[in-house]
Amino acid sequence: MSKNIRIISSLNEMNEFSNELKRGSKKIAFVPTMGALHEGHLSLVSRANQIADHTVVSIFVNPMQFGQNEDFGNYTRDLEGDTDKLSSYKVDAVFLPDSKDIYPENFQTYLEVTEIQKELCGKSRPGHFRGVATVVLKLFNIVQPDYAVFGQKDFQQLKVIERFVKDLHLGVEIIPMPIVREEDGLALSSRNAYLSEEERARALSLSKALYAISQRFRDGCKDAGLLVEEGMNILNNSDVNDIDYLEIRDSQNLELIKTAQSGNLVAVAAKIGNTRLIDNIIL
Ligand code: PAF
Repeated sequence: MSKNIRIISSLNEMNEFSNELKRGSKKIAFVPTMGALHEGHLSLVSRANQIADHTVVSIFVNPMQFGQNEDFGNYTRDLEGDTDKLSSYKVDAVFLPDSKDIYPENFQTYLEVTEIQKELCGKSRPGHFRGVATVVLKLFNIVQPDYAVFGQKDFQQLKVIERFVKDLHLGVEIIPMPIVREEDGLALSSRNAYLSEEERARALSLSKALYAISQRFRDGCKDAGLLVEEGMNILNNSDVNDIDYLEIRDSQNLELIKTAQSGNLVAVAAKIGNTRLIDNIIL
């Protein structure tokens, strides 16, 4: 394990360390993660380094946001690899809480963002955003960050978090960061590691579908139905059959739209083999 990074598992110690870091009006930027870090996560850490005096990264594979048949048990855990990657950045602490401290016996309080959590991934992953919102609020309470940095790949997650921060008057500024992609367009995801070579080739059609929609929009087509059809053809022709959704929505309230405009969200989710992937672009 890399020598320089301070690892904190105790909730109290993390809270006290944050208080210490904040002494003298110093600011903390926080990057919550589930580990299995890739360049996408590291771009968040790099941003955190730029905007604040101190950076805290959490690694916690949150059981509450996984459904019964999802990959909680198999989710990649690689603390040594993660801390190695983080050692190239200025990270004051890696917060590594224990599940039994985050969810002690008799835990029964949950956070729900009722509207934004309903559609897209919320439909096929019931309880997922409740799990995300609950754990992120708990992490905010423990780490007490001034800023928290999230990737736009989990666009709906970002909107859920922005909403509850506003609704609950939390003093955390949410900093969104663009999706990081491989050279060929595949959006970085910890779950890409599950893909075989053949599956990876098929997974590429997600970003291809999004790019094709974006191009057709720039060519003048504004009909959301036709735009989605364009993307669906690409997915179907690439043998991506297990499509959860490919939709164009308002990027603020996530409502479905009929006539596409600049700034709208195009979001896709599909299963490639056993791996569920998501991607999106803004028109
Ligand atoms: O995006 C993630 O990695 C997780 O959903 C998060 C925000 C760390 C909450 O568990």
